[in-house]
Amino acid sequence: MKISVFETKEAASKYASDIFYEQIKKQPNSVLGLATGGTMSTFYEKLSGSINENPIDVKKLNTFNLDEYYEITSENPQSYHAYMKTLFFDKVGIDSAQTHFPYQKEHQEDPSLYDQQIDALGGIDIQLLGIGRNGHIGFNEPNTPFNSITRVVDLSETTIQDNARFFEDINEVPKQAVSMGISTIMKAKRIILLAFGEAKKDIIIELSKMTTPDENIPASILLTHPNVEIIVDKTIGEYLN
Ligand code: PGA
Repeated sequence: MKISVFETKEAASKYASDIFYEQIKKQPNSVLGLATGGTMSTFYEKLSGSINENPIDVKKLNTFNLDEYYEITSENPQSYHAYMKTLFFDKVGIDSAQTHFPYQKEHQEDPSLYDQQIDALGGIDIQLLGIGRNGHIGFNEPNTPFNSITRVVDLSETTIQDNARFFEDINEVPKQAVSMGISTIMKAKRIILLAFGEAKKDIIIELSKMTTPDENIPASILLTHPNVEIIVDKTIGEYLN
């Protein structure tokens, strides 16, 4: 598990976005695994900036997002559909037919079909990941079985509190989501995890000291993945040796 440290979140996000840019350039029909959350906004700003400055073909891509809130419509500004459309898809001209989410209120499907759809397109070439303070990846909260696939999940209290900053009232934060499972994530050929700032310091330090995966810290499964890079800013990096 490689850890790369950058002076700032901007520099780290640019480095990560360049990895995605090169992947798309090299293989225009790539299957991208995408993530949302506060951490990713600078990443999408950098990636859309690069694509618009030095155009590459994005029309053959397929994207699979990690998760979506349950029972929220895709038009809802709090949905991850809306996040992705505003911050990335509309900026670079990725059409909704190319994008996939594990849940869409308007067209509900069995969540486990998501894994089959990913497999049918040859699997995820590169997966973007964030991490929760509690070590979650996607919405796979602590003690999620490592062999889990895409399914409806209950959000932990920590996650509900952390996500309350995006809502007017904590009571508006959905209590459930549909998330790729841990085994779904682990099938990605390459994984790039971004973590920035004070809030993520303790979990990254803990993860960097682990030697064996533990279901209590979902991200620890990444210790067994052959191609993972964790990209952090100096706030976190100065505590790593
Ligand atoms: P954040 O979420 O980027 O909003 O901190 C990351 C995550 O929970 O995976």
